[in-house]
Parts: sequence; structure tokens; C-alpha cells
Amino acid sequence: MKIAIGSDHAGYPLKQAVKEHLVRQGLECVDYGTQNAVDSVSYVGYAASVAEAVQKKAVDLGIVVCGTGLGVSMTVNKYRGIRGALCCNEYMARMARQHNDANVLALGARVLGSALALAIVDAFLAEPFESGGRHQVRINEIATVEDTCFKA
Ligand code: RB5
Repeated sequence: MKIAIGSDHAGYPLKQAVKEHLVRQGLECVDYGTQNAVDSVSYVGYAASVAEAVQKKAVDLGIVVCGTGLGVSMTVNKYRGIRGALCCNEYMARMARQHNDANVLALGARVLGSALALAIVDAFLAEPFESGGRHQVRINEIATVEDTCFKA
């Protein structure tokens, strides 16, 4: 499995921890930056790079991190076909995959301890989408909303 990952300065330490965690499990990780916690940067470009990689299917899933997880989740959800899920616990992460087929996980580095954050990542990566039923119908409805909104 190939994962795209990106963060701003606030998310940088957690991004690094997640990256090490993924690599330790033998997963391929494409790091879109940022590369330090010192320089204050906008989360938008980093989240956008991850969203584009997922959208183009250059990777299987994405993980984005900022201080709260809010800015990065708002950004990735502007991309057609991206279903970004800001998750604060393992249950949300499981449901994000199982019911929403989320393809990007957003994390808040300033609101999660690193052990919980890594447990959320593991839950997100392990859970399959419950395809073929009512959840697929709802995902399709999201795509219809995208079509309608992007035309307006
Ligand atoms: C950076 O200070 C902070 O605003 C950012 O990481 C994020 O939390 C925004 O949503």
C-alpha cells in the first residue's frame, strides 16, 4: 500500500511519527512536506498535494496533518473524488473507511497524543469499505453533489 502524507509546521512532528510508523510496517510513504516544525507555513499547499496524489491514483490513500486537522480536511475536501475524514478516535477512523470510503485521513497534531494518532492511522488503514450496499449509494450521492456544486 502506498500512502501520501503532508502537513504544515504544526503537524510536522506527528507527520514524522506517522511516516516512521508506516515505514516500519513496510508501507510505502510519499512525503509531500513540510520538512520542519520551525518555519510557519500554510497547510493548504501540502494538503492539496496529498489530495492531488490520491485523486490521480498515484497513491492508495492520503494522510494530512495540521494543528487541529481542520484546515487540511477543509482543503482536501475541495477536490472532486476526495473524501477526507477528520478523525479524533479509532471508531471514527473505522467508520470513515467502512461507511464513507474515506480516502484521506486528517489528524490534529495539537489535539491528539501520538499513541492515539497512530492507533487512528492503524484503524483507518485496516478497515475495508463496506461496498455494494447502502453506503455505496450514499457515496454516489456525494459525487452527485460535487457535480452540482462545481457547475454552480
Ligand atoms: C497553525 O497555527 C494552525 O492554524 C494550523 O495548523 C491548523 O490547525 C489550521 O487549521
